[in-house]
Amino acid sequence: MTTDLVQLTYQGPIATIVLNRADKLNALNSEMLTALEAYAHELDCNQDVRVVLLAATGRAFCVGADIFEWSDLTPLEMGRRWIRDGHRIFTRYARLPQPVIAVLNGYTFGGGLELALAADLRLAAAGAQLSFPEVKLGVIPGWGGTQRLTQLIGPSRAKQMIFSGERVAAEQAEAWGLVNEAVPADQLAGRALGLAKTIAANGPVAVQMTKQLIDSASPAAGDNAAVLESIAGSLASYTADAQEGVSAFRQRRQPQFSGR
Ligand code: COA
Repeated sequence: MTTDLVQLTYQGPIATIVLNRADKLNALNSEMLTALEAYAHELDCNQDVRVVLLAATGRAFCVGADIFEWSDLTPLEMGRRWIRDGHRIFTRYARLPQPVIAVLNGYTFGGGLELALAADLRLAAAGAQLSFPEVKLGVIPGWGGTQRLTQLIGPSRAKQMIFSGERVAAEQAEAWGLVNEAVPADQLAGRALGLAKTIAANGPVAVQMTKQLIDSASPAAGDNAAVLESIAGSLASYTADAQEGVSAFRQRRQPQFSGR
């Protein structure tokens, strides 16, 4: 990857992605989106990775999409590229086989919150602030925010957050179920790593299947048919019948299925 603005490191079975544009409070630009997408692909293919941490340098997790970049786009560029890029890339994180934990400090605003919502779990530093300020700019949270936030905390609180643009403190976010835990700031990194290690020590196939099953219950995150296909596909490929079917194809003969 040719950018330093997003970094991926490995510590045993734990992968950590770090947003590294601290001077701009990690506002997401195209270069960062491209890196995030490439890393999602790398993580998806890496079966040695059991948990992904999504964190950031500096005094914010991420203050959202880079206003200076998207505000120069034409409406069609916005719809055809910018919005679709965000949907595609954030959904790649939501659908990673491994659990993803977002580690939130300082500000988590707009597109930053949408990225955090694509994670499975969110830990936040006490005092951290979360918000969707888009309507203050006359735009909307268009990278999945209206859907994933509503799914997570319900329409009433989602509307309050999005209509008002008000900031929600980590402690309130915890009470709403928007973050899993609000943790003293100096313990955040340690708690995130500890939780990642706990999950990584568990059976990876079991953990990954439960992620798929839980997501299948959620219209915003899940795709029931895809989950069923992947689990049924795994089981079917493991049967004696599948072995026989492939052997018969290779040997140019009719298969003799046993139903096992
Ligand atoms: N896009 C691009 N750049 C951003 C940004 C964004 N969303 N948010 C902050 N920045 C940049 C600032 O322009 C500034 O850059 P500069 O030093 O080159 O001028 C730098 O990040 C630091 O921001 P600054 O506003 O000086 O910090 P602050 O502590 O005074 O305020 C915020 C922090 C988060 C309250 C304020 O930056 C803010 O409101 N940002 C916009 C958040 C937003 O609307 N997000 C949704 C976007 S759709």
